[in-house]
Amino acid sequence: MRNSATGPATRALVPVPRLLMLKWSLRLRWERDMVAAEIATERLILRPLSLRDCALIQAAARRREVADTMISIPHPFSARDAERYVRTRLGQMRRGRGVALCIWTRSERAFCGFVELRAIDHEHALAELSFWLAVDAWGLGYMSEAIGAVLRLSFQDLGLNRIHAYHMVRNPASRRVLAGHGFRVEGVLRERARKWGVFEDVVLQALLRTDWRDGDRIER
Ligand SMILES: CC(C)(COP(=O)(O)OP(=O)(O)OC[C@H]1O[C@@H](n2cnc3c(N)ncnc32)[C@H](O)[C@@H]1OP(=O)(O)O)[C@@H](O)C(=O)NCCC(=O)NCCS
Repeated sequence: MRNSATGPATRALVPVPRLLMLKWSLRLRWERDMVAAEIATERLILRPLSLRDCALIQAAARRREVADTMISIPHPFSARDAERYVRTRLGQMRRGRGVALCIWTRSERAFCGFVELRAIDHEHALAELSFWLAVDAWGLGYMSEAIGAVLRLSFQDLGLNRIHAYHMVRNPASRRVLAGHGFRVEGVLRERARKWGVFEDVVLQALLRTDWRDGDRIER
């Protein structure tokens, strides 16, 4: 039996989800196009990760110095590990859940590191920032420059509201790079990571869009 009270209401609801779905799919397509684009900074080019980058990623990330303070990079880091690392991130990008960018120098077109937004959560407009540089590229301020561009992408283009990052307590370079962009320490996660068989405390830092000042490095 047809319920006259629910009939028209049900019909009226039909176009709304369709419209929403169209809006979401257009937004996803727009975001995918945007994250597929290269980003140039003063000294660097951030280029979307591809399968062709596996060998470069492995060569740089297999160094013990890089793995030492990375929670997400095992050691040793085989070619197969590198391929898995890349494929996981390409999958996240396809699903609109990540943005993974290789960092290249503009002058020599040399690969020098990696920066990513991962676990993008559209409902809450947040994502996790993760990053590392090849050892030869340390100490030049490259990561700060790359993160500046990723924050612009996050807040201006992707419409995110909160970016958070984790680093080991014994990683002052990460702490300073993040603090320089206005990230604030939100807490210490006790023994959150196990590295070289030892449990380590991990700092959680975050930056809100309202605290972000584009291009304006904050001295702390
Ligand atoms: C963390 C990392 C990305 C930093 O990148 P970078 O561009 O080389 O950073 P810099 O050497 O320019 O240092 C950044 C800041 O930290 C400071 N710093 C570096 N090492 C330091 C140390 N041992 N003690 C105190 N401060 C230190 C620098 O003086 C600089 O300060 P400034 O911003 O006031 O100039 C890089 O060291 C790296 O890839 N490390 C291995 C992987 C890793 O730890 N990734 C991050 C995981 S969260």
